[in-house]
Amino acid sequence: MTTFSPGAASSVATSIGDRLKVETADLHTRAEKSPLQAALVQGRLAREAYAGFLGQMLLVHEALERAVSGAACSHPAVAAIWSDEQRKAPLVREDLVFYGVDPSSVAPLAETRAVIDLIGSRTTADPVASIGMHYVLEGANNGNQFIARVIRKVYALDGADGTKSLDPYGTRQREAWASWKASLNAQAFTAVEQDRIVEGAAAMFQAIIDVSDAVWRSVGKEV
Ligand code: HEM
Repeated sequence: MTTFSPGAASSVATSIGDRLKVETADLHTRAEKSPLQAALVQGRLAREAYAGFLGQMLLVHEALERAVSGAACSHPAVAAIWSDEQRKAPLVREDLVFYGVDPSSVAPLAETRAVIDLIGSRTTADPVASIGMHYVLEGANNGNQFIARVIRKVYALDGADGTKSLDPYGTRQREAWASWKASLNAQAFTAVEQDRIVEGAAAMFQAIIDVSDAVWRSVGKEV
């Protein structure tokens, strides 16, 4: 098991954006290689299994959006990096309906309940931690855009229906990510706050890996 050690790479990466990218790189690789994510990007994940994953992610996005928007009310740095445009839960709901799932019927797996608890407890302990957790799901749009293309082909989808939450910015993806990172790097975080943000991101990566693995075990099925 990898031991996560914040700050280990800070001598070569100074901005919070660089720290996040460098210090969570191994976790990103593990997330990408998890069986469900690998099946997704290789076009092997069955539609029902994808809908099962989306349902769990709806609950994660709802909890995260509640936490970040709440933290933004009391913490200016959180307010600076957050906007309603970043909400993904409404798009996940649309995608679920497209796949024939009633969003209100989704029940959390134990691993999803654990992420919801993690989001709540870390944000209560320090609102800036929510930035690190938000980084993981906002940054994931970068890879999800490619996954959306695979899914459209494999599930024979027309237009954006069924992949709205994977590709929320469309052709503006690069610009939206550069602008989010610039607003993050413009904040003056203390060293302790930086560590909390990076720790929040690492915990969120692990939590999403756990949810992906749990969905794979429960409804994982190949096309
Ligand atoms: C098969 C699955 C995945 C693929 C193919 C993938 C691919 C990518 C790619 C191509 C980038 C852009 C890298 C760059 O431009 O520097 C990226 C960035 C990112 N991805 Fe993934 N990804 C996957 C899964 C995930 C998952 C599951 C998460 C979250 C749990 C995630 C979180 C991120 C984050 C946070 C970034 C931003 C890194 C940064 O610039 O700071 N990715 N991903």
